Amino acid sequence: MCGIVGYLGQKKASDVILSGLHKLEYRGYDSCGITFYSEKKDTFITHKDQGRVRHLEDDFDYNHDNHLAIGHTRWATHGEPTQLNSHPHRSADGRFIIVHNGVIENYHEIKVKYLDNVTFTSETDTEVIVNLIEHFSKSLQISEAIRKTLSILEGSYALLILDTEHTNRLYAAKNKSPLLLGVAENGMTMASDVMALVGHADHYIPLEDKTYTEITATNDGFVYDMVDVIGKPIQTKMIKMDLVTEEIGKAGYAHYMLKEICEQPSVVRKIMNRYSKNGVFHIDENIIQALSSASNIHIIAAGTSMHAGLIAKHYFEVLAEIPTQVHIASEFAYNMPLLGEAPFFILISQSGETADLRACLVNLKEAHHPMLTVTNVGTSTLAREADYSLEIFAGPEIAVASTKAYVGQVTVLLILTFLLSDKKMFDLNAELSKAAVSMEAIIDNRDYVRQLVKDRIIKTSCFYIGRGIDYYTCMEAALKLKEISYIQTEGFAAGELKHGTIALIEKDIPVVAIITQEHISKNTRSNLQEVITRGAKTITISMKHVSNMKDDIVLMDTHELLTPLVSVIPTQLIAYYSALNLGRDIDKPRNLAKSVTVE
Ligand code: AGP
Ligand code: GLU
Repeated sequence: MCGIVGYLGQKKASDVILSGLHKLEYRGYDSCGITFYSEKKDTFITHKDQGRVRHLEDDFDYNHDNHLAIGHTRWATHGEPTQLNSHPHRSADGRFIIVHNGVIENYHEIKVKYLDNVTFTSETDTEVIVNLIEHFSKSLQISEAIRKTLSILEGSYALLILDTEHTNRLYAAKNKSPLLLGVAENGMTMASDVMALVGHADHYIPLEDKTYTEITATNDGFVYDMVDVIGKPIQTKMIKMDLVTEEIGKAGYAHYMLKEICEQPSVVRKIMNRYSKNGVFHIDENIIQALSSASNIHIIAAGTSMHAGLIAKHYFEVLAEIPTQVHIASEFAYNMPLLGEAPFFILISQSGETADLRACLVNLKEAHHPMLTVTNVGTSTLAREADYSLEIFAGPEIAVASTKAYVGQVTVLLILTFLLSDKKMFDLNAELSKAAVSMEAIIDNRDYVRQLVKDRIIKTSCFYIGRGIDYYTCMEAALKLKEISYIQTEGFAAGELKHGTIALIEKDIPVVAIITQEHISKNTRSNLQEVITRGAKTITISMKHVSNMKDDIVLMDTHELLTPLVSVIPTQLIAYYSALNLGRDIDKPRNLAKSVTVE
């Protein structure tokens, strides 16, 4: 997790780093730091502390000419988020300075084997890397010392390294954690995410695993050299920057999360445009072929993406009639179930960088299984490494709590399964358009949801109940509420409540019911009655065709298969307004990070 950014160029480096850190802060935000080379003072200056980038920016002096710098915003794995553990870290003799994203699994062994005479100042695994480089630099050239270090490290890393003896160079390396090189005539920027490159690069190159990059300022401009661990040059793929500054702003909304909730109808429409021509949907024929010949499908994902996978399972089984299982990535990676005769794998990931999922991908590749990644980041690791990939075109999602990416994932997977189905049960174009309108209606009515949340204050614990695909939406609704409001919430199969969990229902416990499917609406209503009888304070969300007079939120109808796209919206708004009432840090909830690049 965490974000790193580095710069060598003609601009003021500390400005590039600080603005980059602001854009990367969603990736990790318990502490942050920067080191820049002050030309006048001929020294490297480091500022770092617990807390947010705003504090780093406001409370320190950057009134120095500087053109070389690195920065870090941390999601602590080893050592508490203190000033001392914040990055950048410096080697014991002071020559090298480093920022690191990832986890070094053998850091303890390295300490014992190579660094027993070093006094460490932090509790991080990162400090061993910088000291190992220093250790090898005593007998090797700098590039060899870094590459030698890489050959010993086990785990994940994106590294930016400064050598105080070379003030015209920036060094970088990567394995598993993401790192991009942004290229422009007036300078080179390195960052964990393309967002930090906006305004500083015309093109960028995603770095491959186990590679080393050296950037040098020469009289003729800025040059880079990319090699593998043994020093062999590697092929690179240059990608044109297509993000613009407006896409990464809040556009007047109080929070990114609210902006992203409101963008969802346009995400659906954008996906319709991207995947259709003259009203006819189309997806790469190779993907359709590969899926058609599968005996069964395994969907693997984490968190919200896993919930999108559950909805997709329903689509695969109902529309495409292919048996489908959904797996939690962190479980599948080390406990692979029986797979069936000709399995096909679908990895769903907004970021395309989730380490738990990458571990699955590596195993599946080894076994030569075919796989497709569905992602919001077309250039991400999981997109690049799978056999096929499909982009969801939701645009940058910055709030840690995923909203529009979920809707994007469900929409793309619906289109895919629709194309796989022989019997076209409905007009997909018309139904998706209807869904977008229905989403818009509830978004426009969000003040009503805000009031509802205020009246039925959700404070300590909460249940979402539903059946079938509504149950899957309940799981997503519960995750959303707990991650940003810190309220203990459970998404429960409505019929299962009476088998034990109903013991937790007492006076004023909030229970939200989702009812969108005709064939089970009566059953869910009975379960709702059971909790009302025990004093629960309820909110009912239903679709018009199955609604009752007293329901709190009634959504405009769409085809029953598309209801998850709409019914999730009020649950996102409930989470948002509950968190707002409680004064939570909505876009950056505690303990979380956007891109989970550690296992
Ligand atoms: C979403 O609100 C969460 N923050 C989280 O569950 C997320 O969906 C999960 O970490 C998976 O991320 P990915 O889609 O980028 O792989
Ligand atoms: N493992 C390192 C630490 O705990 C880096 C964590 C990160 O990626 O932010 O400091």
